[in-house]
Amino acid sequence: MIKKKLALFPEIEKSKINKEIYGHFSEHLGRCIYQGIFVGEDSKIPNVKGMRTDVVEALKELDIPVLRWPGGCFADEYHWKNGVGPKENRATMINTHWGGVTEDNSFGTHEFMELCEQLGCEPYISGNVGSGTVQELSEWIEYMTSDNISPMTDWRKQNGREAAWKLRYLGVGNENWGCGGNMTPEYYANLYRHYQTYCRNYGDNRLYKIACGPSGDDYSWTEKIMQIIKPCHADAISLHYYTVPFSWEKRGQATVFDENAYYTTIACTRYIESIITRHLEIMNKYDPEHKIGLVVDEWGCWWDVETGTNPGFLYQQNTMRDAVVAAINLNIFNEHSDRVVMANIAQVVNVLQAVILTDGAKILKTPTYHVFHMFKDHQEATSIAHVLEDTTAAHGEVSIPDVSVSASKKDGELTVTLCNANLSESYALDVHISGEYAIKSAKILTGAMGDYNSFENPTAVEPKDFTDFENTASGASVTLPPCSIVTLKL
Ligand code: AHR
Repeated sequence: MIKKKLALFPEIEKSKINKEIYGHFSEHLGRCIYQGIFVGEDSKIPNVKGMRTDVVEALKELDIPVLRWPGGCFADEYHWKNGVGPKENRATMINTHWGGVTEDNSFGTHEFMELCEQLGCEPYISGNVGSGTVQELSEWIEYMTSDNISPMTDWRKQNGREAAWKLRYLGVGNENWGCGGNMTPEYYANLYRHYQTYCRNYGDNRLYKIACGPSGDDYSWTEKIMQIIKPCHADAISLHYYTVPFSWEKRGQATVFDENAYYTTIACTRYIESIITRHLEIMNKYDPEHKIGLVVDEWGCWWDVETGTNPGFLYQQNTMRDAVVAAINLNIFNEHSDRVVMANIAQVVNVLQAVILTDGAKILKTPTYHVFHMFKDHQEATSIAHVLEDTTAAHGEVSIPDVSVSASKKDGELTVTLCNANLSESYALDVHISGEYAIKSAKILTGAMGDYNSFENPTAVEPKDFTDFENTASGASVTLPPCSIVTLKL
């Protein structure tokens, strides 16, 4: 048992934690949209207008705030006009990035907006810059958000939607340094300025425009982008960072790994903190007033696909290791919520670090789902100051802080989320709290690093009531078991 001190200062308010930090991402990739979310109205799987009821209900329990769509790499070859109007007339296309399968465009703009309405979340549209045109993107915005009389709005009405939708979040291109056109930063930044000019605000709709930012620690992309893209052009830039230990070739499987791979994964995910810090330093140089935010619109673990599944479908299981990764990332985003305005885990169902897996009519909630549930009270809360004694420990070749924490305040209540990544040691935390607070309730998610939920045993890893705490005169004493995530409500 390792003893450490944690001090919480509820009176020192830091920044608002935008609910969008708890966002998700859905791409036309493998079984994310088709089968995972959209089964069509004629399916035997219970659905409302084609959307799986079980998936929608599970996501609503998370208070899902925002959903990004249609990609990913798919976004830069998606032509939205093929996805509206009578389904029998919709043109098909080959999804060249993801498995070379035929996309029948039966899930398009109207279906996505319907999904967001059912979920009660904000839509986040990722526009096509790589293979689209300025006119195409401009008309998509007009189609969705204008109430004027025009061919685009008439077409929307003809296709069954009278009133304009509200659309706030608009990404102008995706990974344009790679699958979105292999552009240089200078070329993309100028194209971005061009495209965004014609993405108009119709009526009282106000777009929040997001430019394609860097991949991981590519600081030179950020430097060049920030030289050209100014706050009058963009509200935010994106960052994509996947947790891929060792290398793309050696990252391994979701459920089969040893302790060395586990700790390397944790070190790799912790690296996002220094990535965020350095990108923000560069952004601050060009935008000292902090007008441009950072949107981490793709993050999560990327493992080898499950044996026997289509390599282009990126289907992977999800263990306690993924849960620890999720908790650490969400704690880091909370801590940087003054500039990290949104984050979207990749991806929502059946792809990469999914919160939900489906198999035909079956559904399961992954350990990562439970972390999002345990953290949801941070949404729209105010992060508060805290100091945790150093918990850095050596694990084979890596040396990492074992414990991660974030704390926030909302409606007079504190939410504290803690994660102990150490696989063999418990942490006894002596928690000092300034002010009159006591722990009222607590939850824990814990297990062996490789534990996961299967369709045979979908509740193997689930949050339980946590009782290993005691309220004291100066705060509380809390014992975090190895490989655990704990939420305290005070
Ligand atoms: O999430 C899978 C893919 O990862 C996305 O399509 C792309 O943007 C990223 O490289």
